[in-house]
Amino acid sequence: VAEVIWGLATSHVPSIGAAMDRGKTEAPHWKDLFDGYAPARAWLAEHRPDVAIVVYNDHANGLDLDIVPTFGIGTADRYDVADEGYGPRQVPDVVGHPDLSLHLLESLVDEGFDLTVFQELEVDHGLTVPLSVWTPDPGDAWPCPVVPILVNVIQYPQPTAARCYALGQALGRAIAGYPEDITVGILGTGGMSHQLAGARAGFINPEFDRMWLEKIQTDPAALAGLSREELIRQAGSEGIELIMWLIMRGAMHDEVARIHSHYFVPASNTAAGVALFDNRQGAPA
Ligand code: DHB
Ligand code: FE
Repeated sequence: VAEVIWGLATSHVPSIGAAMDRGKTEAPHWKDLFDGYAPARAWLAEHRPDVAIVVYNDHANGLDLDIVPTFGIGTADRYDVADEGYGPRQVPDVVGHPDLSLHLLESLVDEGFDLTVFQELEVDHGLTVPLSVWTPDPGDAWPCPVVPILVNVIQYPQPTAARCYALGQALGRAIAGYPEDITVGILGTGGMSHQLAGARAGFINPEFDRMWLEKIQTDPAALAGLSREELIRQAGSEGIELIMWLIMRGAMHDEVARIHSHYFVPASNTAAGVALFDNRQGAPA
């Protein structure tokens, strides 16, 4: 069977990738954010999985806004890095794991989650920045193959938090049903509170974010009970990206051990959070 060994929740702010690509991580306004990644990166470097599942959203880069699936999955054997306007980031293309993708797809459809299939997909900052948060210096290749799972968080009506949590639980069962013995890391990306446009542009809510950082470990079901409107009110119109953390969390055990978390305001216009959880039962924190 496949075993989820860890879950990593992280913001995906594009300027975090740009700061890394341009060697600005020691600059005064960035240093505290990147220092906050160090303990998670060190632990992850010691716990490399065979495959990573990245739950993320595209921002009208790989997909056209005319067609926005609520949930999707990549089944390709590689994913090129999207050009978001300044040329593709100079990071490795993403190697896929079609066999695990197809297994997850079949299991999830059987459970009533009818994911849209992406046989081809260019991945944007929503996926590559979390990989950079995990692995700042990938060299020629990211640490392992990746299965992308896509979520619509940009166009109304986004899926509910409860539906995302339920998808995560079904994903956990699907992973456990994979015939090969492999280890899996799962990334839940996006957030934390932010709003990029409109009258509340620049909105950040540290109180809400701190509550979310705590409860994503201890009481994810409570977070799954928040309505779409409540999430947007409390976390901002783009802060609703946080529902993707619930897919990661749903795929993990009820009890997980917190390895590290860090919170930083602001990265660009966004509250940036990272939280790393060990999913191995009985594992020491
Ligand atoms: C920013 C944050 C995001 O989540 C995103 O997708 C794009 C931009 C920002 O804060 O600049
Ligand atoms: Fe985003």
